Amino acid sequence: METYKNPSATVAERVEDLLRRMTLEEKVGQTNQLVGVEHFRHNLGLMNAGDLFRNTAQAIYVGCKPEDLELWTQQGRVGSFLHVNTIEEANHLQHLAMQSRLAVPLLFGIDAIHGNAYCFDNTVYPGNLGLACSFNPGLARRIARQTAAEMRAMNMHWTFNPNVEVARDARWGRCGETYGEDRYLVERMGVATVEGLQGNLDGATDVMACAKHWVGGSLPENGTNGSPADVSERTLRTTFFPPFKAAVDAGVATVMPSHNELNGVPCHSNRWLMTDVLRGEWGFDGFVVSDWMDIEHVHDLHGTAETVEEAYRQSITAGMDMHMHGPGWVDAVCQLVREGLIDESRIDESVRRILIMKFRLGLFEHPYADEEHTMQVRLCDEHRRTALEAARQSIVLLKNDGRLPLDCKRAYKILVTGINANDENIMGDWSAQQRPENVVTVLDGVRSIAAESAEVMFVDQGWDPRNMNAVMVERAASAAREADVNIVVAGEYMMRWRWHDRTGGEDTDRSDIDLVGLQYELIERVAASGKPTVLVLINGRPLGVERVAGKVAAIIEAWEPGMYGGQAIAEIIFGKVNPSAKLSITIPRSVGQLRSYYDHKPSMYFHPYVCASSEPLYPFGYGLSYTTFAYSRLSLSGEISPDGGGQIDVAVTVANTGNSDGVEIVQLYIRDEYSTFTRPVKELKDFKRVDLKAGEAKCVHFTLTADKLAMLDSSFSLVVEPGSFVVMVGASSRDCDLLKSKFVVKEK
Ligand code: GLC
Repeated sequence: METYKNPSATVAERVEDLLRRMTLEEKVGQTNQLVGVEHFRHNLGLMNAGDLFRNTAQAIYVGCKPEDLELWTQQGRVGSFLHVNTIEEANHLQHLAMQSRLAVPLLFGIDAIHGNAYCFDNTVYPGNLGLACSFNPGLARRIARQTAAEMRAMNMHWTFNPNVEVARDARWGRCGETYGEDRYLVERMGVATVEGLQGNLDGATDVMACAKHWVGGSLPENGTNGSPADVSERTLRTTFFPPFKAAVDAGVATVMPSHNELNGVPCHSNRWLMTDVLRGEWGFDGFVVSDWMDIEHVHDLHGTAETVEEAYRQSITAGMDMHMHGPGWVDAVCQLVREGLIDESRIDESVRRILIMKFRLGLFEHPYADEEHTMQVRLCDEHRRTALEAARQSIVLLKNDGRLPLDCKRAYKILVTGINANDENIMGDWSAQQRPENVVTVLDGVRSIAAESAEVMFVDQGWDPRNMNAVMVERAASAAREADVNIVVAGEYMMRWRWHDRTGGEDTDRSDIDLVGLQYELIERVAASGKPTVLVLINGRPLGVERVAGKVAAIIEAWEPGMYGGQAIAEIIFGKVNPSAKLSITIPRSVGQLRSYYDHKPSMYFHPYVCASSEPLYPFGYGLSYTTFAYSRLSLSGEISPDGGGQIDVAVTVANTGNSDGVEIVQLYIRDEYSTFTRPVKELKDFKRVDLKAGEAKCVHFTLTADKLAMLDSSFSLVVEPGSFVVMVGASSRDCDLLKSKFVVKEK
């Protein structure tokens, strides 16, 4: 038996033995990823070459046939596929790969961003931005673990998640895919997701994770996806690098560069990012996969390579290991090697990194998934329960004038209306259409909880915010006058199968953050009935709801709550669940306030706006409960010595001063009062979810160590500068919600 086929040989022995046997074309084939054959077949006749240039989610290969992809697979010219959405196609393509000369199995990658939701018949959990509002990394880890199991049950081995970008601009359509605006929260949620997905990367239910997008795409120059990012190295290293480094430290298997150029250099040909920092400084030992057509865009968009071949050369030389998709890669790269423009040893490096993962995942021994038992894992009861629990923990109560919770036993007349009241859009971006019985809309949820006592009226506004009908708005206004309470479910449209109808999600960036269509009018006309109106938002980006905030009794920010979103929202409206979530991202009053984030520098609002407030509508870390909590007795003890030893023990008493049990997310911020370089007015450094029964009080403890106080000195080394630090503990990032105390780090 050849060594590479021997499972008792070490991974290193198997890799080297296989590499030795490979032709140049077979090696480059391992670095070649294509879209699935059914994906290609679906788009034939729907797309042309022009569509391909600008699209980042659908592909065809002009001049090729779907059958070509199968032939190339049999020839060992393909190492991976993405957008293969069924177990049947995955197993079929794998069979073809196993017929190749060396029988090297394929890696199947998919955007499993919130469960393997991009494939049919899988559990759909809340999207990342909402999940981050739970401040519950343990929950993120559990969801990732379950997602990995459902992926492997479909013979999928690699998700292009977590998106660990720090969101800074609500115009950007992909905020919903991130864990929000705070680097520490993004780090904690991102690391938990990597750990949950990968386990030890040696089991039958482990999958590779992918830290993306590396880096700067979340602060696009004009808010549009892929537009330039111009950021100082200090800001990069202080804010945007740390979540990626934390993912690398957690052993993330792959990294995906960002569409954009960073400070004049496209990320996809950026040696500083892909090699110097990622590998040189951080010791990353996985592999780098390109994003969609972005190596080609080094040539045909950024204009830093005169030919596609030169773009390939630049990218590979800079550190790229795998090409996401496109038919020209293999021949072009083989030619570059034969011309001596790329050393074959550089190709060997990439192939080693890819093969190591294939051996670790056990694909040579287990190249297929079991079609007979796949549905024993996918959508199993345990995963469904987790999806519901996660939805409950991710939904933020932003306003409540006291009308909530409703009494589910009272004989209300309830109006439910709005574009997101009864639509599968509640699942959020990166979702395929799922069975209707596996999606609980808000209308479903309200009817289910209130059916016995209440009369539930529904006025359908359709799903499409751009094509709302004034007649239906007036019909809702009229129904509202008959109702005791109104529920308007507004927000954005994210469903990919209506790509051009979306108003939120990937490549769906906006020049404002207002509600699209007649949604403001709908809310105002319903509220004008004089009956209490509950506004529910289903959306991936922060939305500008200041115009209506004062006209409604309550606002529930549900983000993209997933398959059980409607049930969780209804449970919160009727008090079956006491909301606990807190905002993972600032909600500005308007697009004019952007960029608006809590950890701003001291001079950010030195001169406030005129004619408008400088305060956000709802700040990072903010969220209401049906009970109330009181903070007292903040105390600090211990010290951090000048050499960074020691610790500060922080204690605070949190009491549930209301009448219902609840969970409080206690947040700890610090401020370095005086520093060599300017620092934010506050920085989140820890948080805890605290269960408190009505009337109960607990002492909550945190530990501050030097690493949580550190900043970058002039050579970008971490240092703790002596001087006074403010510790702030409380219910949100608002100063009025924080108890403060100080300690000093003494001079050396
Ligand atoms: C897209 C996205 C990336 C995704 C990839 C595959 O362009 O930028 O996040 O993983 O293509 O779908």
